[in-house]
Amino acid sequence: MMEQLKSESTEKEFLGVVGKSVTRVDAWDKVTGRAQYIDDIPFPGCWYGGTVRSDVPRGKIVGIRQDPSFNWSKVVFVTAKDLPGPNEVAMVRCDMPILAEDIVNYVSEPIALVAAPTKALLKAALKAVKVEIEPLEPVLSIEEALEGKNVIWGDDNVLAKFEVKRGDVDEAFKEADIIIEETYRTGHQEQLYLEPQGMVALPRDDGGVEVVGSLQCPYYIHGAMTHALNLPPDKVVIKQAVTGGGFGGKEDFPSLLAIHAAVLALKVKRPVKIIYDRAEDMVSTTKRHPSKIRHRTGVKKDGTIVAQDIDLILDGGAYTTLSIVVLQRSLLHATGCYNIPNARILARAVATNTPPNGAFRGFGAPQSIFAMERQMDKIARTLGLSPIEVRRKNLLKSGDAFPFGQRVEDDGARLVFERALAISEYERKRTEYSKDQGPKRRGIGVSLFLHGGGFTGSGEQRINGKIKLRLTGDEVELYVSNVDMGQGAATVLAQIAAQGLKIPFEKVRYCPPDTSKAPDSGPTVASRTTMIVGKIVLRGTEKLIGRLKEHVSRYFDVSLEDIAYENGVFLENGTPLADFFDIARRIEGESGSLEVMGNYVHPQGLSWDDEKCQGDAYQGYAWGANVLEVEVDTDTWEVRPLRDTVVVDVGTAINPLLAVGQVEGGSLQGLGYGYLEVIEMEGGRYRNNRLSNYAIPTSVDCPDFFVELMEIPCSKGAFGAKGLGEMPLNGGGPAVAAAIEHATGLFANRLPVTGEVLTALEQKGDERRS
Ligand code: MOS
Repeated sequence: MMEQLKSESTEKEFLGVVGKSVTRVDAWDKVTGRAQYIDDIPFPGCWYGGTVRSDVPRGKIVGIRQDPSFNWSKVVFVTAKDLPGPNEVAMVRCDMPILAEDIVNYVSEPIALVAAPTKALLKAALKAVKVEIEPLEPVLSIEEALEGKNVIWGDDNVLAKFEVKRGDVDEAFKEADIIIEETYRTGHQEQLYLEPQGMVALPRDDGGVEVVGSLQCPYYIHGAMTHALNLPPDKVVIKQAVTGGGFGGKEDFPSLLAIHAAVLALKVKRPVKIIYDRAEDMVSTTKRHPSKIRHRTGVKKDGTIVAQDIDLILDGGAYTTLSIVVLQRSLLHATGCYNIPNARILARAVATNTPPNGAFRGFGAPQSIFAMERQMDKIARTLGLSPIEVRRKNLLKSGDAFPFGQRVEDDGARLVFERALAISEYERKRTEYSKDQGPKRRGIGVSLFLHGGGFTGSGEQRINGKIKLRLTGDEVELYVSNVDMGQGAATVLAQIAAQGLKIPFEKVRYCPPDTSKAPDSGPTVASRTTMIVGKIVLRGTEKLIGRLKEHVSRYFDVSLEDIAYENGVFLENGTPLADFFDIARRIEGESGSLEVMGNYVHPQGLSWDDEKCQGDAYQGYAWGANVLEVEVDTDTWEVRPLRDTVVVDVGTAINPLLAVGQVEGGSLQGLGYGYLEVIEMEGGRYRNNRLSNYAIPTSVDCPDFFVELMEIPCSKGAFGAKGLGEMPLNGGGPAVAAAIEHATGLFANRLPVTGEVLTALEQKGDERRS
């Protein structure tokens, strides 16, 4: 596919930097330890900030007592009444306070802030604060939220609700041979970026404030800060420090943390640094939404689906954060890669007295795809068919429609599925592993998944991203608000710019995001950076070449229409005049640097109705198939992933090695979600707050990966790229559940599939090996 694309496209042929696995631009700084993360950067005179938190899930604050024996003159103490502006973290909604004022709604909710000149003094000051809270009865589960005995949000604890309908489900159910029903559940998941949350705020002489930190979305923070601090946009500057992983965890939460640091810094009149340690990070920051998803599927005896009724509920935690948009994505991925002629999907996000859940790689899709993929396995199990047969019968083909009306544009689902089955030798191994005797048994399972690239619906139009290119005499600087957090955006966006300008890759310099220099190209989320922002970068390169042609026309006194630009050289009717940097140097000498903006243009023919949840939900879909082989010790329930074959269609892979890295990392994170990563709640409190009690996959748990990229180009993305970052995570959970089912005969309807889950299933006695 890749080869074919190369020979068809001259754009790809030139210099070949798109499609080439160039070394990432941050590689040397990272491997030599030169890269400075936020806690590594010296800020002279910096104080340390800390947070006083709620230790009950719900209650009324009756008093905040500062121990009189502590010398408070040496520190700065801030509660809600000291805030300079509205007590709101502006996000999709403004329901989350910066500091709890009368009511607390979750364990670890911030109530007060302290800044001190030393860490020791900070610790002592935090200890000297006692918050008196009159406990109220909390809402701790999806069931309690819907029951509505205690109302903690709005009139009914429902944060968001959407419905999608296609055809007539009730009529179609009458045509079905059988209606198969099951309820699926998934738990919390922690992003577990290597570098915990951290932010430094610096007060400016003009009354403004600058924030430097570990973050994904500079302009989200910028918006939240101007709102909270009552400051004009030009008095707030957000800069990204080198960021050690985000996975969505640095999409919403940094807005709160940045405001905390800024409020303190403005009061202390010095820089204030807040760095969470692992335990504070794990108990107080956002996680993946737990879900409860009920499927009712009407099927024919041969496995053909005639109708599907889905009731999807996400636990949003105490405040909205991004639950509205997470829920939309969950809903729009709920029928997975299958053609469902009649569908009804009701999706709700509810409020509970638990820490707010937020963005996490996959953004609602891993939950709904787990439920859908497990339901396909359930259908197979019920009808005595193979999981492959049932999937093949119902696969989305080019021209089919999703329940929300969008037409599928390629046969990616079928192609990745068949390819993954073939190269993994699924059928042969399925038969072979079925024969395993004794306590250690192997199993092989498959999952099929997709991910819509870019914001949902009209989100990209609303953000209307912009980029800036600045030409100096010998390089092009690329200014975007999209960050590199380890995923490779700095490299890939520079590749796109270099290819667009037809200049060497080394001549493009990606500049770390800084809101005083870079325009708002939107947040680094939603698998949009390469696909969507890359396209905006390309528009910028076209504009820059246009501007250079004007200069060429003037310098050489030739008419604009006669000038062409090929392979880095300007030509007049085929005769070379000057190359890119000849002109660049001349412009620099004449008038200094030259700046152009690239802007978003919405693809024609795509439309979306927000009210009805109908239309073109995404600009393109990436597809994936995951064939996982595991060994399960049926004495200990230890699960060992052996081999993972993942075939993904990501459109054009701008940097294939980085793409494969994303696929391996995302798949492993999905595997962890599937069988290892457990978060337990006790009275609204997370019991897992460090790596000794929250296990994630390590190198020991890592299967041998066989990743294959399939490149079906998407016309809406840069050079044909599709969204890639999040998709691989969608496939891990259902694949591991399916492989464990094959090994043990036990059908798990929940994630993670732990030993406890398997023991409970075994006791129910529904063991059935195929
Ligand atoms: Mo994301 S989970 O869209 O950062």
